[in-house]
Amino acid sequence: MRASLPRARILGTGRYLPARVVTNDELAARVGTSDAWLKEHVGVERRHVAAEGETTSDMATAAARAALDAARLSPADLDLIIVATVSGDSPMPATAATVQQKLGTELVPSFDLAASHAGFLYGLAVAEQSIASGATRTALVVGADMLSRRVDPEDRTTAALFGDGAGAVVVGVAGDDGRGILSMRLGADGAMASLLSIPGGGTGEPMTPERLAAKRNKIQMDGPDLFQVSVKKLQVTSMEALKAAGLLSDKLDWVIPQQANRRIVDKIAARLGYSREKFIENLADVGNTGAGSIPIALDEAVRDGRVKPGQNVLLCALGAGVTWAASMVRM
Ligand SMILES: CC(C)(COP(=O)(O)OP(=O)(O)OC[C@H]1O[C@@H](n2cnc3c(N)ncnc32)[C@H](O)[C@@H]1OP(=O)(O)O)[C@@H](O)C(=O)NCCC(=O)NCCS
Repeated sequence: MRASLPRARILGTGRYLPARVVTNDELAARVGTSDAWLKEHVGVERRHVAAEGETTSDMATAAARAALDAARLSPADLDLIIVATVSGDSPMPATAATVQQKLGTELVPSFDLAASHAGFLYGLAVAEQSIASGATRTALVVGADMLSRRVDPEDRTTAALFGDGAGAVVVGVAGDDGRGILSMRLGADGAMASLLSIPGGGTGEPMTPERLAAKRNKIQMDGPDLFQVSVKKLQVTSMEALKAAGLLSDKLDWVIPQQANRRIVDKIAARLGYSREKFIENLADVGNTGAGSIPIALDEAVRDGRVKPGQNVLLCALGAGVTWAASMVRM
């Protein structure tokens, strides 16, 4: 059944990172942390932070333009826009609709997808299925987050981890050369919602002066538990995606994991038995960019020539929900 459906392929990638770079030392001057602690416990050294007035849709649009250029397509070629984000320009309208305006596309369906750090891969899955159904020929999938505005700048357990940025891919119908999205595995477990959340500002906890003072509109994280869950889920879902693609691990060229903590990657690599050299990482330079994490790292590796056409790349991510996803892609 699936074999008769059109397969989707990534036609081009792009990214955008704000110009301003904040080093660990600069952060340590205002929160109780240190460059040495962050390098050892997380692996982050610097992160990009958006300028005042810059928005998530600005970042998403810049990444989208770069992906369209790489695919040698124009905004008029798009017939679906998905922006994965949990830090959009405003609760309403969708940031994707603003991106549609900024790009100047046709009046195509455009919506946001809130699956946190796994959101980009969730978006890729929706685009893939829309292409397989025949409803869509060319989709834009962006992962964009401005989490610097969602952390409590005085909370050392979160303020240093996150950075701002956007990554994008243009997805179209695959040819018969074997390149394309080979498998996709998605999951969620709402029982673990408290591990990573922004509890305030929605219908559950409308903002009041008390809640504002308690910083309920900022990211709350149970780091150690999230760490354990990340290792377990990313390992299992990655193995499932590899198996579903019908590949053996020796056919795997690269793994691009969510850039959250280098020690998580160490553990996944050891448990999966994959060489550490196969893992593409940019955490040291950009921090955890939420839904932007996977497409930013993918674009970097495509543009610097590490990821080559025809290579097999495993993408995997876990975020608030908790939600998780893994996909095998032949570039
Ligand atoms: C957040 C994280 C880096 C914390 O590292 P950790 O080694 O688990 O540290 P702990 O939370 O156990 O804290 C250990 C100590 O370091 C301190 N600490 C935490 N953050 C710190 C920081 N930025 N700088 C200095 N000290 C810090 C804690 O206060 C604690 O001090 P105490 O022992 O005096 O109480 C880590 O848990 C993590 O990466 N979690 C996973 C995040 C994740 O998976 N994200 C995926 C989805 S985005």
